[in-house]
Amino acid sequence: MNNKLIEAINIHKIYPGPLHVLKGIDLTIEAAEVVAVVGPSGAGKSTLLHILGGLDAPGQGRVIFGGQDLYGLSDARRAQARNSDMGFVFQSYHLLPELTALENVILPAMIARDSGKTSAIEFAGLKILDQLGMEARASHRPNQLSGGEQQRVAIARALMNGPKVVFCDEPTGNLDSASGEMVMNTLLGLNESHGAAVVIVTHDEKIAGRTQRTIMMKDGLLEAPLKAAQRRAPNEIEVKGIL
Ligand SMILES: Nc1ncnc2c1ncn2[C@@H]1O[C@H](COP(=O)(O)OP(=O)(O)O)[C@@H](O)[C@H]1O
Ligand SMILES: [Mg+2]
Repeated sequence: MNNKLIEAINIHKIYPGPLHVLKGIDLTIEAAEVVAVVGPSGAGKSTLLHILGGLDAPGQGRVIFGGQDLYGLSDARRAQARNSDMGFVFQSYHLLPELTALENVILPAMIARDSGKTSAIEFAGLKILDQLGMEARASHRPNQLSGGEQQRVAIARALMNGPKVVFCDEPTGNLDSASGEMVMNTLLGLNESHGAAVVIVTHDEKIAGRTQRTIMMKDGLLEAPLKAAQRRAPNEIEVKGIL
């Protein structure tokens, strides 16, 4: 299969210090793929996610998104690409407290619309909330929702413009394990129902274990560890050998 959605080529990022956080990262994300990026705190995971998502330019290297050089675009065109093709989910939800769940969900569509009717946009927002099991919460404000519910509103908002990819930075980091699992179910479900790729930064191995592919960040570079099931295999073979 060769259906590249994102191709990051030789990405470097140096912060003042100098702090060489990313040291030549090459990474391809296929369309509709679910990938976990893991690694210790400070490894540069968030920095990489922001660069892939058009939020922060790399010092060197290129990000090709859907065939376009993301940082070769004007700021306005890049913002447009972000709004129409990418969704973002952060650890702290980033919902506007004075808006209802539905208003938070439809905000990006209201900004992006050319001429669409508000009622049609609201209908689409309610449909997504319904798919995520949140329709009954549409008129609640964030402070009336649990953390897991707020994160599902944030996921609904990320889906609103039909993105090709949803970038998630520690999406379960503020949640207890049951809520975290529910949010993870939602993310995996949206991959199936909406066909969006999902890139999840996490340091939770359980979360990473549920994705199709896990990429490990180490010393500013990527390495692809084996999935847990594959890692166990040599031991099993050893045990069988002893028996
Ligand atoms: N805007 C910034 N300016 C300077 N240093 C930064 C900035 N953002 C992140 N860093 C540093 O870069 C390193 C990687 O950060 P980050 O990408 O947030 O790592 P992670 O998400 O893996 O915890 C850390 O040492 C962090 O302090
Ligand atoms: Mg981070």
